Amino acid sequence: MRKDIADALKLNMAVVREGYEKQAFADNGNRFLTGNGYMGIRGTLTEARKADMPCVNLAGIHHRKGNEWMEPLNAPNPLYFALEGYSLPENADKVVSHTLSLDMLHGFFLRETVFDTGIGHLTLRVQRFCHMQDVHLLAARIWLCSDTEMDLKVHMGIDRDVWDIHGPHFSAFETEDSGECTVLLGLTDDGQQVASALHFPPVCAASSGEMRSAAVHLFAKEAYTLDLVSSVFTSKDTPLPSQSALDALNTCPAFDALLTSHKALWASLWEKTQVEISGDKDAELAMRNAIYHLLSIAPRHASDLSVAARGLSGQTYKGAIFWDTEMFMLDFYLACLPEVARSCLNYRIQSLPGALEKAKAYGLEGAFYAWESVEGGKDACSDYNVTDVFTGRPMRTFFRDKQVHITADIVYGLRKYVAWTGDTGMLAQGGARVVYEAARFYLSLITRRLLSDTYDLLDVIGPDEYHERVNNNAYTNEMARMTLSYAADICPKYLDIPEEEIRLFREAASHLKVQAPDPETGVIAQFDGYLALEDVSVETVRSRLLDPKEYWGGAYGVASHTQVIKQADVIALLEVLPGYDRGIKEKNYDYYEKRTEHGSSLSACMYALCACDIGRPEAAYPLFMKSAQADIAGGGKQWAGLVYIGGTHPAAAGGAYMVLTRGFLGLTWENGEPQLHPRLPAAWERVRLKVQRDGKTYMLDTEEA
Ligand code: BGC
Repeated sequence: MRKDIADALKLNMAVVREGYEKQAFADNGNRFLTGNGYMGIRGTLTEARKADMPCVNLAGIHHRKGNEWMEPLNAPNPLYFALEGYSLPENADKVVSHTLSLDMLHGFFLRETVFDTGIGHLTLRVQRFCHMQDVHLLAARIWLCSDTEMDLKVHMGIDRDVWDIHGPHFSAFETEDSGECTVLLGLTDDGQQVASALHFPPVCAASSGEMRSAAVHLFAKEAYTLDLVSSVFTSKDTPLPSQSALDALNTCPAFDALLTSHKALWASLWEKTQVEISGDKDAELAMRNAIYHLLSIAPRHASDLSVAARGLSGQTYKGAIFWDTEMFMLDFYLACLPEVARSCLNYRIQSLPGALEKAKAYGLEGAFYAWESVEGGKDACSDYNVTDVFTGRPMRTFFRDKQVHITADIVYGLRKYVAWTGDTGMLAQGGARVVYEAARFYLSLITRRLLSDTYDLLDVIGPDEYHERVNNNAYTNEMARMTLSYAADICPKYLDIPEEEIRLFREAASHLKVQAPDPETGVIAQFDGYLALEDVSVETVRSRLLDPKEYWGGAYGVASHTQVIKQADVIALLEVLPGYDRGIKEKNYDYYEKRTEHGSSLSACMYALCACDIGRPEAAYPLFMKSAQADIAGGGKQWAGLVYIGGTHPAAAGGAYMVLTRGFLGLTWENGEPQLHPRLPAAWERVRLKVQRDGKTYMLDTEEA
């Protein structure tokens, strides 16, 4: 395992942190995450208990405890392993050295801790991964070596004391021992089941049950290893998850063979997506890390599953699917794993019934997609998404009710998928119905005044969530217009629709209010009245906070009555829809960048794209790095009011990919062939990047541009 890491380091494919910091567990959990699209294991230590937030987070299976928020289930942790007397954080005083590594090349987590035993040193090494090919399997190899002979007691097994944010989700457990394997089945009160099974190493033969202990004798300087191989199945996968989990262990190869096939799969993924940035090793590492995370959470095993806003790093944001997938991650999946892009959009087609129901519940027509989508397209978004720091009371937020751009974002994703792949089958098989219902939704929402020819989209929230319930948000109006026009263009080819409806789609598209650039300044108002709000700097607004965790938006937020915004809004519009010239981009970039808090990790990449378009790659660079490094750097916003929102940042990772390709490389496609128009930061000498399109692999190379 050390040779692998050395190779990965040499190739600039590893993230390494030296030194033990007790408080770093939350960031490290994200930084060292390993995943395979089906599940993700946070990069916590194997001995971590609840307080250190370990988890085996599962995709696409949710539970709601009472009236709490709905959350994705975390499986009972089958790779719990602790050394008695040498566990962290309890025995931090014995730590001589501590290194955590993420080998992105081979897709595994490695921990090495050297403890002071009083008479010598004891080294504990743990290598852990989620198998990339057989996504139900996860494994860890424990390696021990002491420079003096010693006896140790070890504890391992399936930890049922699962870390949940709004749990516990399992109300009962069943255990079954089957020789060297044990399975622990967690049951929820709504009949869902999650089975975690573990194949215990021979050293545990004398004990039984889901948690076992064993005595280990170490000879001086002789390495001792033990392997833990486990499997996870849920009632979504199979009617008998316990049986499937045990069967998987009984038929699966031993650790070494598993590791070999796992590494081979990672190699094939990197083969499709490799990126080299000569002249800037930090940027190269950050971009590879972004790609690593996007690969680790890609639902390659599924045909209609999407990617959650915090990937597989835990229950933040309810494990739900946001606009993040279509607007920020899709470029990467299209260019590298088109089948994953397809799965994400199929998920939206499958969840149309949920969107139709949501629209109906609001007295609207068509498809109002969930702001935070979970199974069946149900909206997991709470009416009270933020907790007030002063009163501890939940604050009414209107994301669920008013962030109506979500429906258009999905249409945008579908349109992009079809344009990129040429796969019109997606439209024939449900996509056109989504587009049609999306257009009907906007038709039912748009307001037509008796005395005006201009139609309005009133009472919405645009991408900038700090300003709630605004009128004619520029981004929302243009995305709704795109939806109406696209529906009018393509739906008649696939669906039998009354001509009158098509006429109405076109009429609404042409009459919907345009937030035109101001004739003098060129600035596009984010919404009606935005430019008349108090014009103060981000710093001034920040200085008004009475508590650092205070929420900036909503009714009383410090930003709500000012022009300070949370994230790219007008700039997002300029970057996602065509037709805005360089002059307009320049003026709006200069206006909005200094008024943006970048309080969402989705913000910086849009500004970076814009900076590239206006010929300012140096200004784009720090914004690109902020996006690409989101999960290496750690930190980031961990709180919205009193609500924990930490986790990985797949949209920032996808955004960084967009900046690299569309921004710095200036990638366009002409007659089906890639063309580069590079505008690289000064330090970058050359970029090479593989992309796939129409079954072909292209090596983009700025030296050949
Ligand atoms: C952002 C949204 C985003 C969500 C999930 C929020 O903080 O404002 O735009 O979709 O996080 O990433």
